[in-house]
Amino acid sequence: MSDKKKGAEPKTYKFDTLSLHAGYQPHKNAGSRQVPIYQTTSYLFDDVDHAAALFNLERGGHIYSRISNPTVAVLEERVAALEGGTAALATSSGMSAIFLTIMTLCQAGDHLVVSSQLYGGTVNFAKIAHEAGIPLMVDATYQTPYLCKPIEHGADIVVHSLTKWMAGHGSSMAGILVEGGKFDWMQNDKFPTMTTPYEGYHGLSFAEEFGPTAFTMKARAEGMRDFGPCLSPQNAWNVLQGIETLSVRMQKHCSNAEKMVEYLSNHESVAWVSHPSVPDHPDHELAKKLLPNGRGSMIAFGIKGGKEAGEAFINNVKLASHLANVGDTRTLVIHPASATHSQMDEATLKFAGLSHDMIRLSVGIEDIDDIKNDFEAGFRAARKPRLVSNQ
Ligand SMILES: Cc1ncc(COP(=O)(O)O)c(C=O)c1O
Repeated sequence: MSDKKKGAEPKTYKFDTLSLHAGYQPHKNAGSRQVPIYQTTSYLFDDVDHAAALFNLERGGHIYSRISNPTVAVLEERVAALEGGTAALATSSGMSAIFLTIMTLCQAGDHLVVSSQLYGGTVNFAKIAHEAGIPLMVDATYQTPYLCKPIEHGADIVVHSLTKWMAGHGSSMAGILVEGGKFDWMQNDKFPTMTTPYEGYHGLSFAEEFGPTAFTMKARAEGMRDFGPCLSPQNAWNVLQGIETLSVRMQKHCSNAEKMVEYLSNHESVAWVSHPSVPDHPDHELAKKLLPNGRGSMIAFGIKGGKEAGEAFINNVKLASHLANVGDTRTLVIHPASATHSQMDEATLKFAGLSHDMIRLSVGIEDIDDIKNDFEAGFRAARKPRLVSNQ
């Protein structure tokens, strides 16, 4: 067989190449250069022994698309390669990836320690978690592996909402969990469902049997099988189209974001700007170290004039889309105090770290001048005093 026919050797390729090639071999798919969409629910068994071996996890292969699907498998391998993980499981949304991760590890009565800290936390938390013999899970949706690979910093499980920057086009809901493969489940008795014989699979111990991919195997063979939040092959394919251009998009997202930070920081209508590229941001120094390729494209800023000014701004920008998502190629804005968090009272808003003047901005990859001109229209409207009706 010529080298061409052998297909790609993903492990030797660098990030940009992996985003286009990892997990897929055209010569095994009728030479189809694009990843085929396997629009099927089920897969033929050769005979009853073959079926039994697949069901007992004695051999690999597809059974039913709730558990695995060849198109979805390309996405799983691609993201695992980009994150430097051993295996991955794609899900119907980011929330279902988080849900499956927790359901795979926790039993009634267990504790989950949660931090809202994003950049600073990872390295310190990895140390604390590993000293306590527990795995660290990181939600890296806002970074994508182009900006940061948490596994390299000690994380054991990485979850993503692929709905956001990874796909970029805002067309498809999707999520994924990625396993680092280094956590030793056998070191203590904290994860009996990973280490003790599992009756559902004839006394198999996931940790013993599957080692560095044990967590993903359990999430798939138990969590996905029983709860069912699988990703459709069409949506897996849609996300793969986005991942092909991940690095070029992230570069433009980040450079536009830094230009917007500069513009907003010098704007007379803006009270404050929060982004890790701002020198007084608490994670500024750490972000320089952990996010060398860019500090992400999420900005929060305060508009002078508080809630009313925030509402006027949102109602008067035209290019920026007012919606609930983040990480689209298009610029997105929302004023949490009058939208997502409008039911909260003052104290709860404060607890959530939100203020009445805060605008959340997900910077897109449009021409920067057009984004700024659009914001000027919003700021002009926000500065105008409200017309008071006598009726
Ligand atoms: C950081 C983060 N993680 C997870 C999710 C949930 O993902 P999804 O909306 O794909 O369910 C979101 C959604 O906003 C998010 O921002």
